[in-house]
Amino acid sequence: MTDHTRRTFLKQAALGTAAVLAYPASTVLGANDRVRVGMIGVGDRGNDLLGQVLPLHGVEVVAMADVYSRRRDQAKSRVPGIQTFDDHRRILDMKDIDGVIVASPLHIHTRHFLDTLSAGKDLYSEKTMTWSIPEADKCLSAAKNSDRVVQIGLQYQSSGSLIDAKQMIRDGWVGKVTQVESWMGRNTPHGKGQWVRPVPPDCTAQNVNWSAFLNGRPDRPFDPFKLINWRLFWEFAGGNCAENMVHQVAWIMGALDLPLPSEAYMSGGVFSEKDGREVPDTIAVTLDFPKDIVVTWQSTFSNKHYELGDHILGSDGTLEHHFDEPLQYWPEKTNRSGDAVRGQTNEGDHMANWIDCIRSRAVPNAPAEMGYRSAIAVHMANLSYKNKKRLTLEEARAITPEF
Ligand SMILES: NC(=O)c1ccc[n+]([C@@H]2O[C@H](COP(=O)([O-])OP(=O)(O)OC[C@H]3O[C@@H](n4cnc5c(N)ncnc54)[C@H](O)[C@@H]3O)[C@@H](O)[C@H]2O)c1
Repeated sequence: MTDHTRRTFLKQAALGTAAVLAYPASTVLGANDRVRVGMIGVGDRGNDLLGQVLPLHGVEVVAMADVYSRRRDQAKSRVPGIQTFDDHRRILDMKDIDGVIVASPLHIHTRHFLDTLSAGKDLYSEKTMTWSIPEADKCLSAAKNSDRVVQIGLQYQSSGSLIDAKQMIRDGWVGKVTQVESWMGRNTPHGKGQWVRPVPPDCTAQNVNWSAFLNGRPDRPFDPFKLINWRLFWEFAGGNCAENMVHQVAWIMGALDLPLPSEAYMSGGVFSEKDGREVPDTIAVTLDFPKDIVVTWQSTFSNKHYELGDHILGSDGTLEHHFDEPLQYWPEKTNRSGDAVRGQTNEGDHMANWIDCIRSRAVPNAPAEMGYRSAIAVHMANLSYKNKKRLTLEEARAITPEF
């Protein structure tokens, strides 16, 4: 993009959404233009994403923002010359950044999502798209009213297994599907809790922009354990549904083209990791869908024998999906002859898909609309658990989110 088009675009962005919608063509990058990227929240996952984006052709990571000085120092050592900030707005002020990758904790996703789009940048936002249903509504509507490319970090939307599953379902190999079963299990050595991270000695009030981390949550003195282990607490996180179910539900929704769930029920509790965490370690979720399909997902943190997978159970065939493995198909001998088939499509590169779409302005593999559908499923399940009852979509929408 030339300085002129950048400036023109930013002027439009400053005028607001309507102006951006009226002049969408001004931001198109040529196939050979460099894509300049900024990052917000470069902790564990942010560092993975940095490793994914850095090798891509024609991409430059020019700036990052993180509230914790250790993360900024790490980024400087990985990317010489990178600009670093403790406030994400400094990244969004930079006129020559095209796209922003967000890998902040869940309770800040919405703020980073909305601010990035209103600054006129393309966005890669980690899953789950939002912390609550009202936030999901806001983000979806912002994405719809923007011409920016939005990719949610649901990387299995770029998987070969999803392409194969859609094709086999479309070609009638699976028949009528009324049930999908999915699960994930993890385990840790006795005495070590799943997800618990040690607090580094330099994690002090001086080295952290604590109020930016709190992001409007009730003020309190600096708490390094919560900064590092935000995943364990409802006010910042969405438990294992937001961390892992979301990937599997999005894959299932994509394969079967499912709408929002009509009802959700979730049971379980903190049964194995009794370390003060709030989010459950043992979970059984039932999601009912309007198309006469029930999806179940169960997870535990005290056994990983079956690791994780999805079974799409059809009248004419079964699809078995284990992440990072080719899809497996078995005909149901009751209704169909033939042999088992292994999916052939190679894994796609989710980050490369986002960068390609920044150049082409095409819709990426996991747009906000998929982020939305999968986030709503997560929020319905969590609300059912917290309220200890089965909830319809309408009932879940009527509940005011609480920490
Ligand atoms: N797609 C995947 O497979 C995958 C895998 C792991 C994590 N994730 C997601 O990535 C996100 C981050 O997870 P993580 O494990 O990297 O957490 P993390 O705590 O390691 O990293 C979060 C980073 O954000 C920084 N941060 C906090 N508040 C900030 C703010 N207001 N502005 C800027 N930076 C801020 C923290 O200092 C930290 O460095 C989560 O949403 C998580 O669900 C996705």
